[in-house]
Amino acid sequence: PDAITVGELAQRMAVRGAEVVKSLMKIGTMATINQTIDAETAELIVEEFGHKAKRVSESDVEEGLKGGPDREEELQPRAPVVTVMGHVDHGKTSLLDALRKTDVVGGEAGGITQHIGAYQVKLPSDNRITFIDTPGHAAFTEMRSRGATVTDIVILVVAADDSVMNQTVEAINHAKAAGVPIIVAINKCDKPDANPDRVRQELLNYGVIVEEMGGEDLAVEVSAINREGLDKLEEAILLQAEILELKANPDRPGEGSVIEAKLEKGRGPVATVLVQRGTLRQGDIFVAGSEWGRVRALINDRGEQVKEAGPSEPVEVLGLQGTPKAGDEFVVVENEQRAREISEFRQEQRRQKEIAASGRGSLEQMLSRI
Ligand code: GTP
Ligand code: MG
Repeated sequence: PDAITVGELAQRMAVRGAEVVKSLMKIGTMATINQTIDAETAELIVEEFGHKAKRVSESDVEEGLKGGPDREEELQPRAPVVTVMGHVDHGKTSLLDALRKTDVVGGEAGGITQHIGAYQVKLPSDNRITFIDTPGHAAFTEMRSRGATVTDIVILVVAADDSVMNQTVEAINHAKAAGVPIIVAINKCDKPDANPDRVRQELLNYGVIVEEMGGEDLAVEVSAINREGLDKLEEAILLQAEILELKANPDRPGEGSVIEAKLEKGRGPVATVLVQRGTLRQGDIFVAGSEWGRVRALINDRGEQVKEAGPSEPVEVLGLQGTPKAGDEFVVVENEQRAREISEFRQEQRRQKEIAASGRGSLEQMLSRI
């Protein structure tokens, strides 16, 4: 972090790269535009050009950004965050839909989930479960791996007529890598060619050993279409959640993860975030990855505007200055100045990394920076 490329330094001083190279030569340092120089050298050059150097180190900017650990008495029970994964078309969205009693599938292009949706379901028992839907299409490995890391429990949906397929195995691997317990939902059990035994049998090959096979993994036979087995599935989730003793402190500035983010016409950058600690409120100033913003509006999974969102609640956030990346962490900060500082610092770091990753760069790149 305490280094900068010659080109970047020139850009920040709004001078030609070649002039910085020349000044460096004067003090006995030979460097090309894409090479990095240390902070001391950079400071000398900056002064040489008549500017005042202000060094910002990672520890200055990032320190104390996220608050310390919570005390036991500050913790309160929170809803489990459950990610629904499985092979393409095995019925993930339909199952969520059935659990939610609304029609998400009907509104999707070709019935294929394009993005991660996040919803919270309130059960008649007053228990809440937060669900995250993921696409089963082969191209979305990245989304599934991200889903696995923000989650407490993975629901592995396996169609009883199709059994274990590529993305089933991949989902198992993501869940295991993240150390997240799996609950198997054997779906489409209404179909005449459904064979749940085969599913249980084949899962053995991938280290998922369900109770019926003498293991400890929970498995439930369901039909999303006929709405069968849903109670049992919810029961299994709540049972697993109880074992995990999920808690968070709601009385602190909000922190969490960006589930998805996009630029929308007329709305600007919109991010779906999952609050993991604290409470996110309208008017809060926050940083998400290398972007920042002030919460202009919070919209829940039913499209209603809300004033705040607490632990395990997914919510859409409006008011970002730019579009963060899915998987980015967000955190509420004390003021706009701090938010800008962190965001600029991170953007700068990212630029430096990109330059470093591109190595010396092509001649063209060098020239474009002069
Ligand atoms: P991707 O998001 O594309 O990975 O698919 P998905 O897993 O979300 O599957 P989706 O819910 O879109 O369902 C795929 C197809 O299976 C649809 O035509 C559903 O109607 C059908 N389907 C889902 N669940 C059941 C079920 O329990 N029984 C039967 N017979 N069909 C089902
Ligand atoms: Mg889907």
